[in-house]
Amino acid sequence: MGRSSRSMNKQTIIDVVTKLESPSMADIICKETKLDWESSSGFRVWNETGDEFLDLTAGSGVHNVGHNHPEVLTAIIQQLQSISHTGWQFPTRSRANLLEKLSNLVPFEQPQFLFTVTGSEAVEGALKVARMAKRRPAILSFQGGFHGKTGGSLTVTANPKLRAGVSSHAADTIRLPFPDDDALRVHGFKVPSVEEYLEWIKRFIIHPDFPIDQVAGIIVEPVQGSSGMTAAPPNFLKALRQLTDENDMLLILDEIYTGMGRTGRLFGFQHDNITPDIIIMGKALGGGLPISLVAAPSSIMQQVPAYKQTSTFSAHPVACAAGVKVLEILIQENLPQNALERGEQFRSRLEALNGEFLENSGVRLVVTGRGLMLGVRIEANTPANSERLARQLNENLKEQYVICLLGGTFNNVIKITPPLTLTSSDVDMICNRFALAIGKMITQESTLNY
Ligand SMILES: Cc1ncc(COP(=O)(O)O)c(C=O)c1O
Repeated sequence: MGRSSRSMNKQTIIDVVTKLESPSMADIICKETKLDWESSSGFRVWNETGDEFLDLTAGSGVHNVGHNHPEVLTAIIQQLQSISHTGWQFPTRSRANLLEKLSNLVPFEQPQFLFTVTGSEAVEGALKVARMAKRRPAILSFQGGFHGKTGGSLTVTANPKLRAGVSSHAADTIRLPFPDDDALRVHGFKVPSVEEYLEWIKRFIIHPDFPIDQVAGIIVEPVQGSSGMTAAPPNFLKALRQLTDENDMLLILDEIYTGMGRTGRLFGFQHDNITPDIIIMGKALGGGLPISLVAAPSSIMQQVPAYKQTSTFSAHPVACAAGVKVLEILIQENLPQNALERGEQFRSRLEALNGEFLENSGVRLVVTGRGLMLGVRIEANTPANSERLARQLNENLKEQYVICLLGGTFNNVIKITPPLTLTSSDVDMICNRFALAIGKMITQESTLNY
C-alpha cells in the first residue's frame, strides 16, 4: 500500500503498540523513542510517513555492515529459497560455512561452538559451559555490567532494578567494581599497570571469607554498554587474565555488543592482546537476524554433555547464511579499522562542542567508549539535571532527524552505535547536527549556570 493511500482513520503504529503491548517495551516506545521504522538502507531509516532519519543505534548495535546490505540480502534470500528452518538437529551447509569461518577468526587452536538464538541465551550457555568445565558453581561479574534479562543471564547483570520483583540475587554470583577508562583520561590519572590492577582486585577476593575455590569464571565486557559505554582501561583485561590463570578460573568475554568490529577490532579483547577462554557473540553476527553463540577451545566445550543447551531456532539456517556474509563484509570492507577512525573523529568533534557551547556553563560533555561504541555523557551538577539535559538533547537530535538511544547508569548518556560503514563526511554531517541540537539546548536552558 502506498504511503499516501493510508486510510485517514487508521491508527498509527505507535498507537497500536501502546494499546496492545506490555509496558515492558511499549512504555519506552510511547514515551521516549516515539518512532516507527518502516524501511532502511545503510545508516538511514524511514518511518511510515516517509520521514528520513540517520540511525545512530544500528538497531541496538546490530547493523554493523549497514541496514539492508545487498550481499546480506542476497544470502538471506538464497537460503530462504532452499530451506528456511530445519531444527537444530539437522545441520545445513550455511551452518557448516559459518562454523568454518568463525574457526579461523577466534584465537583458539581447536575451537568449538555452541549455537543459541539471543544474547541472553548465549550468556546462559556460556555460564553453563564454564560451570560444567570447572565443576564449580560461582561466577564473578562486574558492577555496571549487562548480560541480558532472562533468568540465568540476570544473575550476572548488575542492575538490581532489573531483578526487582522477578528474580532474587543468586548466592553464587559476586560483583566487583569496574574501572573506567574515560574517567582516568578526563581526570588525567595515570593508567594503572597490570600489577596494580591485580593488587586492587585481590583486595576484594583474597579474603578468608571469599570462596575463591568455588568460582568457575569471570564474565566481563570490554566496553560496558549499559553503564554508558564504559571502556575497560588498558591492562585491566590482562590483569583479569592473570587472575583467572592463577586461580584456575575461566575468563569469559561477553562480546555480544563489542564484537563484530564495533570497537575497532573484530573483538574488543583484541585491544588488550589477551586470549580469553570463552567468547560470547550475538547482535551483529546475523546481519539483522537473531543468532548468537558461545565459542571455546574444545577442551572446555567437550565438558558440556549432550542436550544441555539447545533451542528450537538455534543455528537457524538463514541467520547462519547471513552471518557468513556479515563476517566476509566486515573483513573485506575493513570495517573494524573504519570504526576506529570514525570513532576518533566523533570523539574529537563532539568534545570540541564543550569549548564551542558549554564554556563556564557548569555542564560538560564527556565522550566515552571505543571505536563506534561511544557515549556522550552529560555531566551537570546533579544526576537528575544530567538526565534531564540528556533527554532534552536527545529530543533536539530527533528534531534534527538523528536517532540515538539514552542510557548509562544515570540515564544521562546519549549512545552512539551506528553502522560501521559511516564515511568521514557522514560523521561531519552528524556532528553538525549535534552542534545544532546542543545550541538549541542552551537556548532552552536559560539557567545553565549551575
Ligand atoms: C553485552 C551484552 N550481553 C548480553 C546482552 C543480551 O542480549 P539479548 O538482548 O540479545 O538477549 C546484551 C544486549 O544488549 C549485551 O549488550
